[in-house]
Amino acid sequence: MKIAVVTGASSGLGREFVRQLALLDKQLDEIWVIARRRDRLEALRAHCRVPLRVLPLDLTAPGAADTLEAALKAAAPEVSILINAAGFGRMGDWQAVGRRESAAMIRLNCQAAVEVTQVCLPFMGRGSRVLEICSTSAFQPLPYLNVYAATKAFLYRYSRALHWELRPRGITVTAVCPYWIRDTEFIPTAAQSGQPVHHYPLASTARRVAFRALYDSRHEKAVSTPGPVCTVHRLAGKCLPSDAMMALWEGLRRL
Ligand SMILES: NC(=O)c1ccc[n+]([C@@H]2O[C@H](COP(=O)([O-])OP(=O)(O)OC[C@H]3O[C@@H](n4cnc5c(N)ncnc54)[C@H](OP(=O)(O)O)[C@@H]3O)[C@@H](O)[C@H]2O)c1
Repeated sequence: MKIAVVTGASSGLGREFVRQLALLDKQLDEIWVIARRRDRLEALRAHCRVPLRVLPLDLTAPGAADTLEAALKAAAPEVSILINAAGFGRMGDWQAVGRRESAAMIRLNCQAAVEVTQVCLPFMGRGSRVLEICSTSAFQPLPYLNVYAATKAFLYRYSRALHWELRPRGITVTAVCPYWIRDTEFIPTAAQSGQPVHHYPLASTARRVAFRALYDSRHEKAVSTPGPVCTVHRLAGKCLPSDAMMALWEGLRRL
């Protein structure tokens, strides 16, 4: 049995990935969808021709990865694609974001992504693909999104190294690094702790980002920058010193 595992499938990018996989990947027998909101996951069935297995898990809770591992061991599928889209951010200075939310971001965006990847890898083989949903914020330190950007830099570095390690096994790992996406719950959630950013010019859509990310993964790319802004951002991050990048961000942020 060939399956896809998608975390963060109850909304935004994760949900869009499920829809596009169900439409485009004719070889999938099941898609396993993971998030906390069971009703949202169940509702996805109406949009998918591929059977869904709903796993309502809080990935930051102790034992969540064990639950996934036990389900995989019981079904013994081939995981042909894993998409780690579960993640969240908080905007604001260090006080506004606070200790608990900072720790929660690290647990979900870093620890849970690594644990889910570790759990799925033994079930993957030649031709399998992993998409770690990072962010363009991985390309520079970002004041007022400091912990979030650092979690995505972690995931980006992890993905790049894993891509290298798994190449001999024929498994592709793609670090997906989108710029702002306007039609997901990410921005309203992130703005709950503060609004240091007022405008999101040239923001993309979940449909475009998911389509481009899947295309890049099929073409075995280590990094996907699904859109012009994140592509330029990646180049700038390689050429300019971090202080210059932060000064530019400060100017844009104040617009
Ligand atoms: N939107 C953007 O501007 C943007 C830009 C760059 C990168 N990204 C990244 O893209 C990914 C998807 O974000 P999105 O834009 O689609 O935002 P979203 O609509 O808020 O989706 C986030 C998903 O993560 C799930 N999630 C949150 N906490 C969880 C937990 N503790 N356990 C399990 N699942 C959890 C949510 O489901 P439940 O609430 O049901 O658990 C939801 O399905 C994130 O990693 C984000 O960092 C977003």
